[in-house]
Amino acid sequence: MEGGVSPPELQEEPELILENGEPYRNPTEVKMSQIVLPCHANHCGELSAGQLLKWMDSTACLSAERHAGCSCITASVDDIHFEHTIGVGQVVNIKAKVNRAFTSSMEVGIVVSCEDLYSNRQWKVCHAFATFVARRTEAGKVQLKQIIPRTQEEQMEYSIAAERRRMRLIHAEIINDLLSSSSANTVSECMQFEDSFPAERTRVESVELVLPPHTNHQVSTFGGQIMAWMENVATISASRLCNAHPTLRSIDMFHFRGPSHIGDRLVLKAIVNNTFKKSMEVGVCAEAYQGGEPLRHINSAFMTFEVLDQDKKPRTLPRLRPEPVDGKRRFQEAIARKKVRLDRKYIISCKQSEVPLSVPWDPSNQMYLSYNNVSALKMLAARNHWVLTSEKNKVSLYTLEENHVLCFKVETHVSVAAEQVFQLLSDLRRRHEWDPHYKGCEVINHADEDDTIYRVVTPSISKGGKVQDFILLASRRRPCDSGDPYWIALRSVTLPGYLPTDDYNRGEVLCAGFSIKEEDFSLTKLCYYNQATPGVLPYISTDIAGLSSSFYSAFASCSAFLEENKDSLAPVPSAAPREPHWETDL
Ligand code: COA
Ligand code: ADP
Repeated sequence: MEGGVSPPELQEEPELILENGEPYRNPTEVKMSQIVLPCHANHCGELSAGQLLKWMDSTACLSAERHAGCSCITASVDDIHFEHTIGVGQVVNIKAKVNRAFTSSMEVGIVVSCEDLYSNRQWKVCHAFATFVARRTEAGKVQLKQIIPRTQEEQMEYSIAAERRRMRLIHAEIINDLLSSSSANTVSECMQFEDSFPAERTRVESVELVLPPHTNHQVSTFGGQIMAWMENVATISASRLCNAHPTLRSIDMFHFRGPSHIGDRLVLKAIVNNTFKKSMEVGVCAEAYQGGEPLRHINSAFMTFEVLDQDKKPRTLPRLRPEPVDGKRRFQEAIARKKVRLDRKYIISCKQSEVPLSVPWDPSNQMYLSYNNVSALKMLAARNHWVLTSEKNKVSLYTLEENHVLCFKVETHVSVAAEQVFQLLSDLRRRHEWDPHYKGCEVINHADEDDTIYRVVTPSISKGGKVQDFILLASRRRPCDSGDPYWIALRSVTLPGYLPTDDYNRGEVLCAGFSIKEEDFSLTKLCYYNQATPGVLPYISTDIAGLSSSFYSAFASCSAFLEENKDSLAPVPSAAPREPHWETDL
């Protein structure tokens, strides 16, 4: 089975037929098809990324407005990774739909594919998630109507949209923290290379006057137009470094800090911040002014370019000699951003089953691992076709087999308020009170309020064998909206100070956890999920997540534990001393 975080693919979902016999079509879906003409292309005959960004933004904006029923503006566009270039004569197909509406903002999912009319082939170029905000009215902030997901894919996107939103709203803060902690050693090392390329030669400054064709019907500059202008100066800057045509590979998150209108002068500034072996980071800043007004910061973006040789392989780039002060700072920060980008690509764009369990936890990937953990569980939960395998004492066991992976779901109801269930189950140190497989459990890293890393010890899976240990990241989430469940997601991670030892068999958990949904004031639907590869199945009875042939009794104990403790909320776990005291737990 694919786990949660794979991007939307080109394959269509099986058609959903409505009661009236009509095939279902998402009411917010908007499609755009464009044939790439020479006027859209650069001198190499490839569609300019700026033009593509404009088309993507317009399609997404129309989808957002279709849902909102009013004018909307682009607030942000998440990181985009371009997988292919598109040539003149080919057709670009763009599909956008609203995944979820929050209060006044919406997440719009955009998929771009390229079609070759002569060979009838289609391939994916990129996908993106943009946030649009319904324009405030005189009455204040708009309250959007909710999206009701109908298909499995819509359900997944709806559920994970809340995760992506969380990530984008803390993104700037996390990146700033990382940048401020990055060290300055490499700059001085680089200054020693005589053949390094002076950064000032890549500096570009360009001005644009915002005219009516650049704006929407509300006279605000289109977000896509600003992105296109930014991409244009970034491309010039990158070309100056390599004296060749650079190819845009990825763009970090765009955030539109403030609006721009007809008559604004937009000043766009770009410079190469750093070069890596085969790629470079170009930073761009967009500011606006009218008349004698001070400059308004509209947007800043970081773009990664490659330079391809005749075989379409990335060329080695010269080292960069940064300018003093700001240049050195940006040089250093570009290194930190590269690490973040790699983590992000590795963790987020991989299918869940392809993310190696050995991903080390560190501050730069904390946000992505937490996202991956919860999203994978949400995707598992949103799967259709769970088969009821057995039922006893109102505890139901479901299974799901997809692509050689077997998944389990145990469902029950408890007469305890959802918030209390969440609090009690969030603290894995209390799990031994109802789950006989949790022989020992300690907190080894309390990363933040939502993410805690535990070391858990379980009995041996074979008689006389070694006991097992697990390093588990537990990520928890409260509901984003009233209809949402609480989530507690579990997955294995590695921590440098906690490598496997000879005394324990190191076990691994791919995706497991709970969803906790309030049915009414004191009745809660509790679901436990676990995804296991066939190799693990024989051992499932001792699996860390406690799913075993005796799951009825485990869940009966769980219910009893919740009932008994419902009035004593579990404290939020705090970091334990570095050395574990297993005797007390075992
Ligand atoms: N990414 C995604 N959504 C964001 C965001 C970001 N970086 N920053 C704010 N938002 C969302 C908020 O979560 C909120 O959503 P909600 O109502 O569903 O909870 C919504 O934007 C409004 O937030 P609010 O706090 O009321 O306003 P704000 O002062 O943060 O302003 C914008 C947010 C987007 C309206 C404002 O920054 C803006 O006008 N930007 C320019 C937009 C524009 O003109 N774009 C076109 C190109 S210039
Ligand atoms: P920061 O300086 O922290 O990177 P800014 O928002 O000021 O953030 O700028 C974003 C990027 O735009 C910079 O990293 C740099 O690459 C580019 N940039 C900013 N100012 C200039 C400038 N005066 N000339 C050329 N490029 C600039």
